[in-house]
Amino acid sequence: MSKIAASILAANTMYMGDAVRKILDSGCDAIHFDVMDGVFVPNISFGPNLLRDMRQEFDAFFDVHLMLHDPLQYIDVFAASGADAITVHVESETFSQAMKKIRTRGLRAGASLKPETPASALLNIEEAPDQVLVMTVEPGFGGQELMPEMIQKIADIRKQGYKGVIEADGGINTDNAKRLANAGVDVLVLGTTFFESTDPKELVRWIHGLGK
Ligand code: DX5
Ligand code: ZN
Repeated sequence: MSKIAASILAANTMYMGDAVRKILDSGCDAIHFDVMDGVFVPNISFGPNLLRDMRQEFDAFFDVHLMLHDPLQYIDVFAASGADAITVHVESETFSQAMKKIRTRGLRAGASLKPETPASALLNIEEAPDQVLVMTVEPGFGGQELMPEMIQKIADIRKQGYKGVIEADGGINTDNAKRLANAGVDVLVLGTTFFESTDPKELVRWIHGLGK
């Protein structure tokens, strides 16, 4: 069964509470929380206060994706604000220390690969991450086209022996989700496709039916 994490980057910030309610009412498995600093990626999104306020309102799984130049600096505040999983980019300055810190905070530790970073980058990581987030678009913006060559990277990650959770993120829709699930993806991150859906409950049900 495939899981779905809805990305609130695609939500209308004026109605963020309604957006989270819509995600949870539709049966999504997690809220995907994209944090951007305008340095690691050319965009700025939102910070720990939004997560803190959401945690006070909702009992949901918060899958935090840090697209930050120096993620180490922010692990404590996102952990304290209610993250359940924190994913950091292998390309970022303080990746290794950040992964260690996520673990000391007792959270799921994720490693994310930008499109140009090969699957083999995971082989240099001291301790296998709990989850691998494969970017299927260039990180920084929602609403982009999925890069189909990333499907081979997902298969490569499995081939090189990674047994943990693989998450795919960016440009995912009903045309490409099945191929991703069959390539070994466990969790699909949907932003635009989820919020544009006319029947989110049905979309979630369909995603849950994918995969082995
Ligand atoms: C992009 C983010 C993705 C993005 C997904 O940098 O990491 O999570 O919000 O949104 P869609 O599904 O619209 O591509
Ligand atoms: Zn993301």
